[in-house]
Amino acid sequence: MTARLEPGPEQPEGMLPSTVDRPAGERFGHAPTSPLPPESAPLLRWIDARLPVISAFRREYVDYPMPRNLNGLWNFGAFVTVALLVLLLSGIFLAVNYTATIADAFNSVEAIDRQVPSGWLVRSIHMGGVTMFFAALYIHVWRSLYYGSYKAPRELLWLTGMVLMAICMGAAFAGYVLPWGQMSFWGLTVAMRALSSVPLVGTPLAHWLLGGALADVALHRIYVLHFVLAFSTLAVVGLHVMALHVTGSNNPLGVEVRKPADTLPFHPYYTVKDGVGLALFALVFAVLIFFLPGWLTLPDNYLRADPLSTPADITPEWYFAPFYAILRAGGGIGVPLAALSIAVLFVLPWLDRSPVRSARFRPWYRVLLPVAVLSFVFLGVAGFHQPAGLWLLSSRIATAIWLLFFLLGLPLLTRFEPRRALPEGIA
Ligand code: HEM
Repeated sequence: MTARLEPGPEQPEGMLPSTVDRPAGERFGHAPTSPLPPESAPLLRWIDARLPVISAFRREYVDYPMPRNLNGLWNFGAFVTVALLVLLLSGIFLAVNYTATIADAFNSVEAIDRQVPSGWLVRSIHMGGVTMFFAALYIHVWRSLYYGSYKAPRELLWLTGMVLMAICMGAAFAGYVLPWGQMSFWGLTVAMRALSSVPLVGTPLAHWLLGGALADVALHRIYVLHFVLAFSTLAVVGLHVMALHVTGSNNPLGVEVRKPADTLPFHPYYTVKDGVGLALFALVFAVLIFFLPGWLTLPDNYLRADPLSTPADITPEWYFAPFYAILRAGGGIGVPLAALSIAVLFVLPWLDRSPVRSARFRPWYRVLLPVAVLSFVFLGVAGFHQPAGLWLLSSRIATAIWLLFFLLGLPLLTRFEPRRALPEGIA
């Protein structure tokens, strides 16, 4: 397969120009098309001559050259993709049985759980699927941070990923409101109060979004929002993978692949590797659905929403907990701080200008990044505790570490971090 890889015209024998220098579509010296082999079925060749989707698929997912040294952390993109597809599919089945009115939403979800044939299974898959999705997504982002996959020329790949994360968070939040349980209602109330606290635009925006009161019209809009955001991810995932296939994958050493011998075709090598990973992912997913269905959900949401009875503590789902902890730790400036804690990720490629990608060759980044990430994980725990006493103090310290790492640490590392010699290639 690698015999197809040829150096570009001005390159010395055996060396390929970096992906940055090459026009899109000529990755690793590839011709931009991957014609069907002559032994392909005539019908396939007939179709492909008129609508070249089969050769495009072969080019992007069969012959596509991948760095040969990718570790298991590169499986997580596939996990996130599959979890997303499972969510979309199970969501359609839930939607056909759900009623988006304040009077009937809770009952319709109860009916899905108790009366609709296999409804309990589909709902369990959808709810467990969100946990699997966000767990895989956070590891996917961690991998990209550790190996510097956000750096040039992958800035737009990173940004499309961040847009995906923002859309998915919006969709997850909207979805959590739909059963109209106690946490749905009170979570929405907290979010709307937080939004309304933004000077000038906050209150009109909250009013415009939900129509004033938490009534039928609000729930209906949230239902539409949930659906639209969820399905719009498909288009953005398309852009994400398109951007990925222009530059090619980064790898654990963080140096560009330059020799054809450093690559392996996506199929069979990475299809098999992703397949094995997906089998393990499905196993964990199954354990979650069948043995621990209530483990990560809050029991309060199995109580019908009651505007007259506030729960003792309003807590979000685990994947929002770090941001919620920042919101509460920040007091009067909690909302801008929580927004900033995500915004720093959007501008990350411009905060960290070090030419070295992988943390393996960055002695200080390798230590400071885990410290920042552990602070973020700690905030996830703090999000489930009342913001008072030691929890409040430690949440504030963790918030400061997270923000300072990006805003101060990375620009300083760019200037002062000692650089280790990089390997010539990945072999
Ligand atoms: C619905 C959400 C997402 C899906 C379905 C998705 C899917 C994928 C897939 C299939 C890959 C290739 C396999 C891999 O490298 O693991 C990939 C790569 C990548 N993704 Fe995502 N992704 C998502 C969200 C994100 C987010 C939130 C970020 C970070 C902001 C991100 C950043 C990246 C980067 C930098 C790469 C290239 C990594 C490398 O080559 O080293 N992705 N993504």
